Amino acid sequence: MKRHDRLPGFRDFFPDPVPHPDLARMAERLHLFSSWRKVVTRYGFREYDGPPLETLELYKAKSGAEIVHQLYHFEDKGSREVALRAEMTPTLARMIAAHARNYKKPIKWFSIPQCWRFETTQRGRKREHYQWNMDIVGEPGIVAEVELLTAVATFFKRLGVGPDIVGIRVNSRKVLDVAITKAGVPRDKFEKVCVVVDKLDKIGAEAVKCMLTEDLALPSQTADVILQCLQASSVDDLAKAVGLSQSDPAIAELKTLFELCTAYGVGDYLDFDASVVRGLAYYTGVVFEAFDRKGELRAICGGGRYDRLAELYGGEKCQIPFCGFGFGDCVVVELLKDYGLMPDASPSVDVVVAPFDATMQPHALKVAASLRKDGLSVDAALT
Ligand code: HAM
Repeated sequence: MKRHDRLPGFRDFFPDPVPHPDLARMAERLHLFSSWRKVVTRYGFREYDGPPLETLELYKAKSGAEIVHQLYHFEDKGSREVALRAEMTPTLARMIAAHARNYKKPIKWFSIPQCWRFETTQRGRKREHYQWNMDIVGEPGIVAEVELLTAVATFFKRLGVGPDIVGIRVNSRKVLDVAITKAGVPRDKFEKVCVVVDKLDKIGAEAVKCMLTEDLALPSQTADVILQCLQASSVDDLAKAVGLSQSDPAIAELKTLFELCTAYGVGDYLDFDASVVRGLAYYTGVVFEAFDRKGELRAICGGGRYDRLAELYGGEKCQIPFCGFGFGDCVVVELLKDYGLMPDASPSVDVVVAPFDATMQPHALKVAASLRKDGLSVDAALT
């Protein structure tokens, strides 16, 4: 790498015309951000922001080993261990833990932070990305998840991405929790089990079983029950695998979620998928991930319920239910390009004002000023 090269996994955003097709277009980023903003405005969410640098401890507390491993972290000049923001959720939980009492619940907030993770770069995965976050705080019921899932589907619809192109896989960690508890696994192993099980797609059932039995010391029979849960093809199947009745709250909740999303008109986007558990340690209930149906790209977005994160930062008084999602800007751009759905969004000017010669310059500027005052976009020729 040469001294002035761009770091791998980072992007320069060029205005059109972009010098090379592999470079990122600023116009695409703006198009995406404005589409996200249009959706959140329709859902009545308020925008918040936080610092791009946080204490290392904030992420270590609950994000999970994978994210912690990917953190850009260092000691600052005040000898504090700090990390670049890898995701927005810990920042949001910290902000709410400190100020929840000042807000009427439910709190509906969104943000579009830039995040940094030292990942292996590949199509749709960089070392920095922008991530649209929508989170609902203070609503324990499944209606919160429904609101978020319909917002994701509404975004896809707006951009012409139909349910034939993308889907949203939904599952609930609560059911897995019941299965694990029934099998006698100590409560404190639950998150570790979820993190292992999240690798199923990448490493296969054999290797997952091996990790469950060897790394987490679970009995082989328990590992089998867990793997059986992950293979369930419907909510009913899952209930059967775990030995739960249809009226069990975890099962009934999932069914209601699908019914409500269908009533909203976005049921076609949703699939039940028992193998989705998500890699982040803090999720406690429904979890979901959007994916391309051709299976060529990494996850488009991901989220779920995390009812115990704020408690970690603010203590027992902060037992506040949360759920939300993060939707990155990289995979969706690849998808929109693949399907020819990325419009040429680069802004154009209404008028060009050019002086005939230097003596006409003051008059040209006067004309430009007057047209700009009237709201037109004017390109004033400089020579
Ligand atoms: P996550 O699954 O780690 O969840 O990331 C969410 C989304 O961010 C991914 O689906 C992807 O679109 C994007 N993303 C993540 N890493 C990268 C990367 N290296 N390059 C490009 N895009 C990436 C979270 O971050 C949770 N905090 C989401 C959440 C919000 N859960 C509740 N509220």
